[in-house]
Amino acid sequence: MTPSDHISELVEQLNEHNYRYAVLNDPAISDREYDALMDELRDLETRHPDLIQPDSPTQRVTSDLTREFPTVQHEVPMLSLDNTYSEDELRDFEDRIRRELPDEELQYVAELKIDGVALSLIYENGLLTRGVTRGNGTQGEDITPNVKTIKSIPIRLKTCTESMSSNDSIGEGLFSNLVPYCEIRGEVYLDHNTFDAINVQREKNEENPFANPRNATSGSLKLQDAQLVAERRLSFFAYSFRSPAIQLSTHGENLSYLERLGLPVNTNRALCNNIDDIIAQAREWQEKRPDLPYDIDGIVIKVNSIAQQSKLGATSKSPRWAISFKYSAEQAETVLERITLQVGRTGVITPVANLEPVQLAGTTVSRATLHNAEELERKDIREGDTVILEKGGDVIPKVVRVVTAKRAKDAIAFEFPQNCPVCNGPLIKDESEVAIRCENSQCPAQLKGNIRHFASRTAMDIEGLGTALVDQLVDSGLVRDVGDLYNLELDKLASLERMAEKSAQNVLVALEASKKQPFHCVLFALGIRHIGATVARALSDNFHSIDRLRDTHPEEIEAVHEIGAAIAESIHTYLNIESNWAIVEKLRAAGINLASEAPADTGPKPLDGKTVVVTGTFSRWGRQQAQDLIRTLGGKPTSSVSGKTDLVIAGEKAGSKRTKAEQLNIEILDEASFVQLIGEENA
Ligand code: IVH
Repeated sequence: MTPSDHISELVEQLNEHNYRYAVLNDPAISDREYDALMDELRDLETRHPDLIQPDSPTQRVTSDLTREFPTVQHEVPMLSLDNTYSEDELRDFEDRIRRELPDEELQYVAELKIDGVALSLIYENGLLTRGVTRGNGTQGEDITPNVKTIKSIPIRLKTCTESMSSNDSIGEGLFSNLVPYCEIRGEVYLDHNTFDAINVQREKNEENPFANPRNATSGSLKLQDAQLVAERRLSFFAYSFRSPAIQLSTHGENLSYLERLGLPVNTNRALCNNIDDIIAQAREWQEKRPDLPYDIDGIVIKVNSIAQQSKLGATSKSPRWAISFKYSAEQAETVLERITLQVGRTGVITPVANLEPVQLAGTTVSRATLHNAEELERKDIREGDTVILEKGGDVIPKVVRVVTAKRAKDAIAFEFPQNCPVCNGPLIKDESEVAIRCENSQCPAQLKGNIRHFASRTAMDIEGLGTALVDQLVDSGLVRDVGDLYNLELDKLASLERMAEKSAQNVLVALEASKKQPFHCVLFALGIRHIGATVARALSDNFHSIDRLRDTHPEEIEAVHEIGAAIAESIHTYLNIESNWAIVEKLRAAGINLASEAPADTGPKPLDGKTVVVTGTFSRWGRQQAQDLIRTLGGKPTSSVSGKTDLVIAGEKAGSKRTKAEQLNIEILDEASFVQLIGEENA
């Protein structure tokens, strides 16, 4: 077999296996076998890069970082739906349709309204060429590289011979050829299991959990790195099809056609002949909603006949032939057994409701946040109360109200303590905020939170330093601040509960590796108030070392574009407190980076003020490294070539960006000339 045939065969097989796995939920081979086929294909493609097919599964994730998403115009505006909230409003909708189309026979399709993010897909000659967000309805963002990572979205549509036989009324002729051009719309979403797994991971990394699957989906679609999007394991349901060449007569047929093209279409849909059928569907799904593995926020009712849809038309906002029936947030009733107080990393005290476990929106809930003392008082929530919980926009359910009718006569109002439940230090209410804080910086609860933050992935990235170990390290007195982490000894670590010599060794290796983290990560890791990852980077870029930062006046710090007065004050105060500086010195002694790579204040830098695009591959740096280097040398790395670009650094296999730079007459340097420009010592 020629390499070309071999590649084609593997692409074909892998795409079919992926379809069975991601769309039909019926895999024919194991993950391991799939990976082996993928490896074989990758290997062939590496040896014959000219034979890489556009629909190859290896093309789902490309390594290119997409810094900006281009804006594109929708050919047909992406309208939204009119909402209804009651059965009466549904009847009004149906009456309106009957008035508009008197004497016509009417049929509707009732579908689930998936609570995700709308997406438009363009296929040309069967190949996925574009994935665009809804945006403002007229223009959206082209997020094609990210869309290609969604496994249930085919990168090539099926044709007649491949599609499963079906007994619907669509003529076979329509399947014999590739669809020359079509737009498919639908909803990207995250199922509950995947969403929960993402949040568990985020909490481990000390990142804020996503509020709900919809937020997580929309955040994921906008990520700059397609590799990270792939890890989010997004899903998709198609709900509309438009092609100038293929015009079917009903919406139901369009949905079946989409299925045969290989797209996932939600099977929970029904044909309705009258308003009673519609209402029955609305009630049925309200009932079954908690059992679905993904979020829905209602059902959508659509007139089935496309000809009737055209007659009914649309307003500027929404079609007249469709309506959504929205469900309200799910609620549950349970007993609040106890109110406990949680002490956060910054000392903020959060009251928490400990509940008799209850099912709510697909999960068992036993804790809910009570936010703060004011909220507790306002809602007059007491221990022993029967409460109504709601899972609205947030991950953590909240107590909506107390069922006072069920309150015990002897229930007493909750009294907020004057002292920290962990260290007994005084609690202080800052006049400018609602939060009540423990101001004792030695409070073990804060210290534990600080260490977890210090070890998190975006900070020092110390794998293995999880909650249980941090608790033991603090409780045993082995660690009194983050500086002590680097003095831990193997035998002491190994003697802790659930720690064997091997795991202790792993933690020490991870601690050693963390010494390579760049200065901006260290600055973020210190957990200084208001200093998030981006601010830490700006501080590192502008001041280069912790010593210089300590000695810089807040006003001078504030002069940096991204930095406000509160940040400047916070960093200055923190570094000038003796006990904090002692921690910094411990870190210095351990060999932690307390200065950025670029020497502090060396005068003008080779790329000062230049907007630079890197493209292709380099022998000395990966893409990210090259971009970091540009930043260090005073330049601004961007991803797309435009009139504003000053310089393009083109490595091996540079493609369209190089061509565009040539067209725009922008200076192009290869790796060797770039090294010459910046100096061998900087490369
Ligand atoms: S039809 C012209 N069908 O709900 C309206 N939309 O405002 C086309 N949605 O963001 C939409 N499930 O993405 C339709 N089965 C479904 C849907 C659905 C979810 C979303 C849609 C849009 C919003 C409607």
